[in-house]
Amino acid sequence: MRIAVYPGSFDPVTFGHLDVIRRSARLVDELVVGVLHNSAKTPLFSAEERVNILEEVTKDIPNVRIESFSGLSVEFARKCGAQFIVRGLRAITDFDYELQMAQTNSVLNPDIDTIFLTTSLQYAYLSSSTVKELAAYGGDVSKSVPPAVVDRLYSRFGKAMNNEK
Ligand code: PNS
Repeated sequence: MRIAVYPGSFDPVTFGHLDVIRRSARLVDELVVGVLHNSAKTPLFSAEERVNILEEVTKDIPNVRIESFSGLSVEFARKCGAQFIVRGLRAITDFDYELQMAQTNSVLNPDIDTIFLTTSLQYAYLSSSTVKELAAYGGDVSKSVPPAVVDRLYSRFGKAMNNEK
């Protein structure tokens, strides 16, 4: 069985993440999306909410499973029996951090390789933090995140979209 994990914060999941999920799921038998539960950070959505959202938006992809984890990604991958960690690369600005993380992970566990997928062009500008800022000011996030996330974002910020006011 070829198994990969795709670890991340997914706070919230964007169309960019979904694109990486769909494309990497085609490369393996099973893809486990790992939602990082980091007690040192205060996310907008709890780990449980992020898992629920991801389950909802990936329900049409049969070989994808969602789990939350805490601690090291490489340990999570080992526990899942994965041979690969998947990460998306949007631009050169991601590269330094991602290379450092992949190399650190490789020192921690040389049996697990990191695979990078370059983000599809139409999603290259997207980030969860930009989406949150946009939603906080009532901007239109419907081109950035799936409908399930749009609704949750606006209810979290207590806003309607600017063009609906
Ligand atoms: O979506 P993000 O926030 O870019 O994801 C970053 C993530 C969760 C992949 C990274 O922070 C991570 O792997 N955290 C767990 C701790 C760890 O394994 N760090 C890398 C080795 S120092």
